[in-house]
Amino acid sequence: MTASLSLSRFIAGFWRLCDWEYTPQQTLKLIEHYLEQGVTSMDHADIYGQYQCEQAFGQALALQPHLREQMQLISKCGIKPAFPTTPKRYINHYDTCAQHIITSAENSLTALNTDRLDMLMIHRPDPLMDADEIAKAFSQLKQQGKVLHFGVSNFTPAQFELLQSRLDTPLVTNQVEISPLNMTTLEDGTLDQLQRLRCSPMAWSCLGGGELFSSTLAQAQRLQQVLTTIAEQHNTDDISQIVYAWVLALPSRPHPIIGSGKSERINKAIASQQIKLDRQQWFSIWQASKGHSVP
Ligand SMILES: NC(=O)c1ccc[n+]([C@@H]2O[C@H](COP(=O)([O-])OP(=O)(O)OC[C@H]3O[C@@H](n4cnc5c(N)ncnc54)[C@H](OP(=O)(O)O)[C@@H]3O)[C@@H](O)[C@H]2O)c1
Repeated sequence: MTASLSLSRFIAGFWRLCDWEYTPQQTLKLIEHYLEQGVTSMDHADIYGQYQCEQAFGQALALQPHLREQMQLISKCGIKPAFPTTPKRYINHYDTCAQHIITSAENSLTALNTDRLDMLMIHRPDPLMDADEIAKAFSQLKQQGKVLHFGVSNFTPAQFELLQSRLDTPLVTNQVEISPLNMTTLEDGTLDQLQRLRCSPMAWSCLGGGELFSSTLAQAQRLQQVLTTIAEQHNTDDISQIVYAWVLALPSRPHPIIGSGKSERINKAIASQQIKLDRQQWFSIWQASKGHSVP
């Protein structure tokens, strides 16, 4: 039997790894920095960086292979983008058939330079998804020891329950967008379902992918103002810390995924665990997001 999966509260996100143009040594330094700070869970997907990010991570890991035992490697599959490097694909689409899931997982193992994934997720719900097919792929990967746990990403509660109904082990998470810029999963039953199941979500783009700092839209402007005020009350000048504290306050106990490649921003994110917002501060952010008070 596989031991249960223990993720760090913050997760390291590697979607943007290739944008940072790090050498393998620099990527290794980043990985070591994360591990030193107690962030042991590494979030990937087959398609990140046009299929290059997992490989870049794997090259760095090859410099210090013993670090593999100190981390949880997470990947995703199911999206087939029409990249310039995939000329046979003329349209972005999803593929959750068993063969694609198995092939993608095996490719991730090779790229990441590992013999097992701690978790594999279906990246996006697929309208052509046959839950029995996915269950077949999961079962084979698990039996072969190639993937230890499974999860989903961007699934509605109904899609989560459908897939779960065909599996003999619990889905470990639903990785969803959680941000003051996008509160959909707080309102559509997604986080309620996860709280009921005591299954913690992973939270992507908590900072809106950087939009929180750069957007000139009214919602972002309102948020910047309120977050700055609350940041002053907590003796910090970094509004991202207040955003993480807002996400961490959710009772479904989300695991925020850090998207920055800069160690000082990573440190600030992790330190936000010390910041506790009171309800009025939490709802001030809710109100700034909505542009109106609670009814
Ligand atoms: N499952 C899914 O569908 C899905 C979708 C999207 C993302 N994800 C996962 O979630 C992770 C995080 O997503 P994300 O990268 O969108 O997270 P994010 O934290 O919302 O955004 C990160 C971006 O914000 C910038 N940023 C951070 N702090 C900043 C500051 N103080 N001032 C200005 N810019 C700042 C970062 O730039 P610097 O690098 O310069 O700091 C980076 O470009 C990804 O790596 C991926 O693992 C999953």
